[in-house]
Amino acid sequence: MRRATGTRITLVACTLALAACTEPSDEVQVTSTVEQALTPQEQHGRDIWLKSTFGGEKFFSLVLPDPPFNLTLGLDLALTTPRAERFTRWGLVNDPDCTDGDASTGFLDRCTDPHSAGVIGVRKIANPLPVGPRVLFGITCASCHAGLAAANPPANPNLPRWENIDLTIGNQHLQVGKLFAAHMTTHDPRYHVFRSWPPGTVDTTVLENDHINNPGMITPIFDVPDRPFFALHRNDVAIEVHRNGQGGEDDVGCELAALRVYFNIGMCARECMIGHLANGPGGTQTPIDLEQCRRACPEYIAAEQQVGDLCAFLGTTRAPVLPPAYIDRSVVARGRHVFATACASCHSNGEPPPEDALSDDELRTATSLGINRCRSLTTNWQPDHIWAAFSSDEHKAFGTGFYRDLPLRGAWATAPFLHNNSIGAYSGDPTIAGRLAAYDDAIDELLSPWKRDLTGSIARTTDSITLSTPTGTVTLPAGFPVALYANLDPANPTQNLCPDLLENTGHYFGVWLSPADKYALKEFLKTR
Ligand code: HEC
Ligand code: HEC
Repeated sequence: MRRATGTRITLVACTLALAACTEPSDEVQVTSTVEQALTPQEQHGRDIWLKSTFGGEKFFSLVLPDPPFNLTLGLDLALTTPRAERFTRWGLVNDPDCTDGDASTGFLDRCTDPHSAGVIGVRKIANPLPVGPRVLFGITCASCHAGLAAANPPANPNLPRWENIDLTIGNQHLQVGKLFAAHMTTHDPRYHVFRSWPPGTVDTTVLENDHINNPGMITPIFDVPDRPFFALHRNDVAIEVHRNGQGGEDDVGCELAALRVYFNIGMCARECMIGHLANGPGGTQTPIDLEQCRRACPEYIAAEQQVGDLCAFLGTTRAPVLPPAYIDRSVVARGRHVFATACASCHSNGEPPPEDALSDDELRTATSLGINRCRSLTTNWQPDHIWAAFSSDEHKAFGTGFYRDLPLRGAWATAPFLHNNSIGAYSGDPTIAGRLAAYDDAIDELLSPWKRDLTGSIARTTDSITLSTPTGTVTLPAGFPVALYANLDPANPTQNLCPDLLENTGHYFGVWLSPADKYALKEFLKTR
């Protein structure tokens, strides 16, 4: 399944574009490996990635606003923000095939695709039920995973064309926490949890809550065929799969991992997800039951039938290539050598350069890395927990506490670094120069950890909040660390499930290198 080493050509990046790729722009001088045109199956998979919600809109528009969630997302505010400000204010990527609506439509965009809500991955679907709003809003995989193309950014980030959109880079400008907090007061404890999520991150266990605040970056999905396979087990059946997820929980193959994410974005919520949130002894989670779901929810069957195509598409996406003018070639050979000695023991699969995904995809303990542990301690995948039907036997046996060696392809485009985007300053600037400024800063903090602002990395409340506890209410002052209340075990509120406050510790590799070696390493990584 390795990618053929391609001839290098000048490429107008149209292969992923949907429709409007008819105007090749002269500015696109990106050198890249040849991309094959997508097969019909991969094209179908790409369309699912972009457009399919499998009924999740019923969850977001009809279930989430009511108890027990009481959560109204700020999608209404974001979708009625004028297009010219939408990326700037929310990090959302506008659908190029839309224009601003007018006051009579509440400024909702007018789009060629009748289900587009004006933003990539946000879908509007007529409410099939006689109750509730007329139009429901759901999200697709692309809502988080599609971002602006790193090597071919739009002149104005608010107004991209299709060739300026990378469907799997992971939108590191997306302000998911701001969308979640949009309708809350600053005295709501949840407001500060959501606002603690750096741009480009989301706590994927926030709805199926495991009581640990653990924002994780929306992982780039590039060059999957170059990543190593692992022989793993699910229900005692051996499977050969690539790893998924930052802690190895989703090591069950792309198909099952993707189906789990559809539950996460609302699919079959009423029929077979919500009941498992708190129906065990003492209001604890129980596993989603796939057989019951097949019987109760037609959308699950539809997703099961189509997810293979989605995975075929994910196998086709490539890391962005930085134009050579931005690289100091004179030190690249030295940088390659430094990388081989200081980094390749984890960040290499042992293949020659074009096939090296720059990771062995092995799991390391969070403790040995010294990295903030909260993401590695999530429990939803454990036996008897909600996602148990989706996790590998190895993960269930080894338990929590791991981080996967992340592939470094395209790292120049995806700073800040680490699973929680905590290393390096966020630039918010999607131009090549803006991404490189963020990259320079992140590499500098990564390799010279004394430059990190440790205390500044602690997420704190910015206003007083009132918490309800079994014995009454407690008011906490502004400046209180979020992890000290967000991570309390509801079954035993004196127990903090992750009292790890510093976000940007750990990964102390290469710190002893000379400044010249650090510089060479930085330039070498830009070539990958
Ligand atoms: C709300 C934002 C969001 C949406 C929507 C979303 N994802 Fe993700 N995705 C993430 C985050 C965050 C991660 C990193 C998770 C982790 O490991 O902590 C991730 C990771 C992944 C990975 C793992 C990649 C790797 O190399 O480890 C895959 C595969 C994936 N998502 C597929 C999907 C699919 C399929 C969908 C649609 C059903 C989807 N995602 C929808 C946020 C999102
Ligand atoms: C012992 C294994 C190990 C070694 C050696 C190692 N790393 Fe890592 N690296 C990791 C792990 C694990 C992660 C993921 C951490 C996380 O999830 O927060 C990571 C993450 C990274 C990231 C962040 C990627 C991203 O997308 O955010 C960069 C950059 C990186 N490493 C560069 C390096 C460099 C450069 C070296 C050599 C100086 C190096 N690493 C050595 C294990 C290692």
